[in-house]
Amino acid sequence: MKEGKADLKIYKGKISKKLKVFYNPAMKLNRDISILLLNCLGNKYMQIALPLTGSGVRGIRFLLELDKNVYKKIVFNDYSNKSIELIKHNIKINELEKDYEISNKDANLFLLESKGFDYIDIDPFGTPNPFLESSILRLARGGILAVTATDTSALSGSSPKACKRKYWAKPLKNEFMHETGIRILIRKVQLIGAAFEKALTPIFSYTDQHYYRVFFKCKKGKKKADKILQKHKYLLYNPKTLEREVSDFNNKKGYDYAGLLWTGNLWDTKLAEKMYSKHQISNTQFHNLISLIKDECKINSVGYWDLHKLAKTKDKPIPKIESLLNKDATRTHFLGWGIKSKNSPKF
Ligand SMILES: C[S@@+](CC[C@H](N)C(=O)[O-])C[C@H]1O[C@@H](n2cnc3c(N)ncnc32)[C@H](O)[C@@H]1O
Repeated sequence: MKEGKADLKIYKGKISKKLKVFYNPAMKLNRDISILLLNCLGNKYMQIALPLTGSGVRGIRFLLELDKNVYKKIVFNDYSNKSIELIKHNIKINELEKDYEISNKDANLFLLESKGFDYIDIDPFGTPNPFLESSILRLARGGILAVTATDTSALSGSSPKACKRKYWAKPLKNEFMHETGIRILIRKVQLIGAAFEKALTPIFSYTDQHYYRVFFKCKKGKKKADKILQKHKYLLYNPKTLEREVSDFNNKKGYDYAGLLWTGNLWDTKLAEKMYSKHQISNTQFHNLISLIKDECKINSVGYWDLHKLAKTKDKPIPKIESLLNKDATRTHFLGWGIKSKNSPKF
């Protein structure tokens, strides 16, 4: 089959952990975004690590589709022998001869034995937790950490105990549960970063179908790490009025809460704009996501408003979403009928 510019051999079968070598066509968007982001960042001659490679599709596409000065070397790692066999085959059919290495180790061992990388992509089954410490330890100054989490049910509130255990925070299952979930994930990654005096700032975040994805930029230093921690707060939410507020405390009469979670920006606005201007409209889903984020990244609010729910609360008909959009209120990729704005939209 073909994905992007890569020709690939893959194993047929239901997409699950049990596949001989994992390949998920639904994650094409995840790879498309990674390529676009790396081509827009401006970082040069990066050493790139793919500790959980699977079929090799991501690395092969990086070799074929990243601008030539973006990377110096790409290292493919997977502990499965079958995966390594397939990566080698896929590299061969794409006639790639240089700028890569292949490693067949446990991901943590691979990272810890390395000299470090400028870009590390953690793309596991489920939670990224087992790989956070080693990747953050080996992430270079100014480097980028990309994290995928597919255990969204824990993060978005279907299983609060799992969220507490794995992500050290209380989720909240409501209309903006996926934004809350992403912010809880971000804080967890940042806490591990802070323990190693690394400040991890999200530069691009999104959710799609069954997963969350966040790209972090790494800066070193105690003070910078402390500054990140100052933005970990609670999000209070009143289920009757839908009002919400960011707070240092988690108790207010009539309010439920989520957190602690990251209350800073989810995107670097300039990067999101550059990604929009540089992207090629290869498919609608990719185009829609990039366009929505280009607008919503300008609104600095935690959570968004669900128009259907808001109309019900106000006991009014649902207004046309377009009639409420302006420079302080945009659509959001999190929800088709959601509005991102600081204050509740007036209608
Ligand atoms: C979700 S798949 C990766 C998909 C791939 N990144 C892509 O874009 O198609 C996870 C991969 O991680 C590998 N894996 C899981 N745990 C690992 C570990 N501890 N060390 C190394 N590889 C591991 C599995 O063999 C599998 O190939």
